[in-house]
Amino acid sequence: MEVRRLREEDDRSSFSCGDDDLDRFFRRYAGQNQFRSHFGVSYVAVEADAVLGYATIAPGHLEIDRLPASSRKRLPGYPLPILRLARLAVALPKQGRGIGMALLRHVFALALQLDADFGCGGLVVDAKASAAPFYERLGFFELEVVEGGLQTRPQPKTLFLPLEEIRAAHKSR
Ligand SMILES: CC(C)(COP(=O)(O)OP(=O)(O)OC[C@H]1O[C@@H](n2cnc3c(N)ncnc32)[C@H](O)[C@@H]1OP(=O)(O)O)[C@@H](O)C(=O)NCCC(=O)NCCS
Repeated sequence: MEVRRLREEDDRSSFSCGDDDLDRFFRRYAGQNQFRSHFGVSYVAVEADAVLGYATIAPGHLEIDRLPASSRKRLPGYPLPILRLARLAVALPKQGRGIGMALLRHVFALALQLDADFGCGGLVVDAKASAAPFYERLGFFELEVVEGGLQTRPQPKTLFLPLEEIRAAHKSR
């Protein structure tokens, strides 16, 4: 298995991870976003030309008042540059075989590269409640909610992993 950038010729039409939103995004919008709008880049885990999973990333920023007070002390007052893991999904029959983790490790390496080139404070992910433990076991923690409001549908948990922890995880491989 190889993890690499999505190519226009990759077949996305039958990808199915069991979550309609993630499937629809990959089938309809991942290519458009990457090749025409330049809103984000997807990385795919492939084997024999079949896409087994994907991770979509984009650079972003994090308002520092969303971090716990203890981490804020040593930071400047302006937003922190971060890498955002916008979507991560593995095809249903291939789940539970380490592919999600392989995609995430690849994203860790990209966060370190972003840091080397432009600066990066860490990785942010808006996780579905059912997937949050997948990230939390690696040290991701939940960011503080700044704005309130009525929540009519299940809200994702915004999780963060600081760059030092990404570096430590990358070194210990
Ligand atoms: C969540 C998802 C990406 C994980 O990918 P995967 O390939 O199935 O996971 P892996 O096989 O790499 O699992 C690595 C480890 O995480 C654990 N894990 C996997 N999914 C988990 C979950 N939802 N909660 C807690 N732990 C999880 C595995 O048990 C494994 O543990 P181990 O190393 O102790 O054996 C995948 O199951 C998926 O696509 N789910 C549907 C879509 C989704 O929820 N995406 C996330 C949106 S934020």
